[in-house]
Amino acid sequence: MVQYSRFMNINGSTTIVGVFGSPITHTASPAMHNAAFKALKMNWVYLAFPVEPQNLREALLGARDMGLTGINLTVPHKLLALSIMDEVGEEARRFGAVNTVLIENGKLRGFNTDGYGIAKAIKAEFNFTFKGKRVLVLGAGGAGRAIAVQCALDGATQVFVANRTPSKIDPIAKEIATTKTAFRALALNTDDIARVINDVDLLINATSVGLCEGESLGLDAKLFSPRLFVYDTVYQPAETELLRMAAAGGAKTANGLSMLLHQGAKAFEIWTKHKAPMAVMRRALNTAVYGAKT
Ligand code: ATR
Repeated sequence: MVQYSRFMNINGSTTIVGVFGSPITHTASPAMHNAAFKALKMNWVYLAFPVEPQNLREALLGARDMGLTGINLTVPHKLLALSIMDEVGEEARRFGAVNTVLIENGKLRGFNTDGYGIAKAIKAEFNFTFKGKRVLVLGAGGAGRAIAVQCALDGATQVFVANRTPSKIDPIAKEIATTKTAFRALALNTDDIARVINDVDLLINATSVGLCEGESLGLDAKLFSPRLFVYDTVYQPAETELLRMAAAGGAKTANGLSMLLHQGAKAFEIWTKHKAPMAVMRRALNTAVYGAKT
């Protein structure tokens, strides 16, 4: 509360946006967006709302009826939200998930900025695009699907997806089959991954494993070598077990803060129609997540 009032003067014409999730108290998105509003002297506020899945429809319709302008959706709402939208953008349809809602003229318009976010993050961290690359994605939930499909849309030659629950890979395989990218499903274990790792340039963890201290994907350290790039969408802790092992093997590594930044910046632009102040948002995220003023 103290933090918000320090940022802005809320009054009768403040535009409200926010995020729905469960759990939601850990979110760094309010810090990132409110810093941007402050820097651009915009009378907007971004709030976090704890919403349970069974209440998602009522919450979104309520947001519309109360005149909110935009909502981000995070775990566990991204897939379910698709069926609640009045209109769905091309990416959200392809990814089967919505992470950004624009409320305009009484309509809920669903977007997905996760694919954009990962592509920008990989470029920023490793200085390459997915074009011509062979990518292994761990995870087939909302984030895994968006990332795998974005790789294919951007011209990756090969996409592998490994997931604990194999059936969740099916819709990804179906979507990638509409592109020129070769696709293969794998089990999420060292043996299956070892068979293809020499044909992989970039490994992206899109599972939630690593978020909790001590959590492990159970992969063997010998999978990682200096020719491999490894990106973990988890950003808290800053170095997960996966990134630690990958770095020890000589791989180039980066964590998910850059994806959070870029998907958030795109959402900011969808809502406000203003260019996102990237440096301000990056600094606010770093401070909120790591307590560092970088
Ligand atoms: P998000 O929107 O962040 O992708 P999600 O849709 O809930 O969240 O997906 C979570 C992903 O993490 C899934 O791929 C999930 O695997 P399952 O499809 O088998 O559930 C993966 N995941 C979560 N906990 C895991 C664990 N302990 N081991 C392996 N994979 C795990």
